Amino acid sequence: MEITRTKESRLSSIDFENLEFGRQFSDHMIDMSYKNGAWQDPSIVPYAPISFHPSMHALHYGQAVFEGMKAYYADEETVHLFRLDDHHQRISDSSERLCIPSMDKSSFIESLEELIRLDHQWVPKKHGHALYVRPFVFASEEYIAARAANEYRYMVITSPVAAYYKEGFNPVSLTTTDNFVRAVKGGTGEAKAAGNYGGSFLPAQQAQKDGYTQVLWLDAKENKYVEEVGTMNIFFLIGNTLVTPKLGGTVLPGITRRSVIALAKEWNVDVEERRITIDEVFDAHSDGSLKEVFGSGTAAVISPVGLIHHQGKTLELDREKIGPFAQKMFDTITGIQYGKLDDPFGWVHPVKVG
Ligand code: COI
Repeated sequence: MEITRTKESRLSSIDFENLEFGRQFSDHMIDMSYKNGAWQDPSIVPYAPISFHPSMHALHYGQAVFEGMKAYYADEETVHLFRLDDHHQRISDSSERLCIPSMDKSSFIESLEELIRLDHQWVPKKHGHALYVRPFVFASEEYIAARAANEYRYMVITSPVAAYYKEGFNPVSLTTTDNFVRAVKGGTGEAKAAGNYGGSFLPAQQAQKDGYTQVLWLDAKENKYVEEVGTMNIFFLIGNTLVTPKLGGTVLPGITRRSVIALAKEWNVDVEERRITIDEVFDAHSDGSLKEVFGSGTAAVISPVGLIHHQGKTLELDREKIGPFAQKMFDTITGIQYGKLDDPFGWVHPVKVG
C-alpha cells in the first residue's frame, strides 16, 4: 500500500483533556477510488482538503454511505479495533442498497490496520475516550444524470473523541414526534446512508429546542411502535426481560446493539427482539416494571435514558443515576474493547503498534 506521510504532525495541537466529538482529525487518511469497474489499491495520504467538480454526483443525489467505528488504547504496543467483520458486512449491505459497489474485506481491514499503526499516537489513552474511525464512500463521478454513478471514492478519517453526548454518561432525554418520520419499509432506513442523517436534523433541532437530547423515532405507518434514536438503538429492561425493537428494514442494525444482545443472553437475561409500542413502554413505567432504558451505538456506547416525552406525557426514570444493568453493560463492553476483560466472543481486533 502506498503511504505518504505528513511533513508536519498536528498531534501536539490536540488538547486530549478537552475533546469535542468529531471536531479534530488525525494526520492521515485512507483514500481509494473505484473506476473502470473496479476498486483500485488503497493509499494512505496526509489528511487534507480534497478537490472535486461542482458536478460531483454525491453532492446532487446523496449516493453516499458511511460507518462509525472506534480504535481503543489497550497498551503501549496495542490498539484495539472492534468487530471489523461486522462493520465490513454493514458497509457492504449499505452500499448494496445505495447501488455502490462493495469493496473486499481484505482492503477494508488491511488499510484500517495500516492507518491505525501510522496514527496510533492519536488514540486517546484515557478509558472512555477513543479514536473515532469514520469510513465513508461517495459517488465521485463528474456527472449529474440521475442514475447510479460509475466512479466512487472510499475514504477513512479518524478523530480523537470523548463522550458523544454533552451529558457524558448521564441520562439523556428523548421525545417522540408526530410531525416527521425517519424510515419506511423498503426505504433506506436500515442502511447507514448519509441522507438518513441529513433528514433527521430538522426534527432533532426541534427536539433540542423543546429541551430534549434527541428524537425517539416511532414507526412511520402507525406512529406507535418504537424504532430507534437518531444516533443509537434503544433497549428497555422490563421486569427481567430486555426488549429492543426488532430489525426489519427500518431500524439500523447496530453493531453495539448486537453486542448488547449477545452479552445479555450470555448473562441468562431473556432478550426479546420484537415490536414494542410506546404505550407499552409508558404502561410498564406506570406499573413499575420498566426498570431501565438505554441506547447503544458506537459513538454513544451505552447511553442511559432518563426521560421520554410522548404526546404531552412524560415518563421519568431516575434521572440522576445510571441503572445497574446499563452500567454493567457499559463496563463489560468497554472492558472488552479496551482489553481489560476477556473477549469470549472474539470481537476485538488487536493492531500491534509498538
Ligand atoms: C456511530 O455511532 O458511529 C454513528 O454513526 C452515529 C453518528 C451519526 C454520530
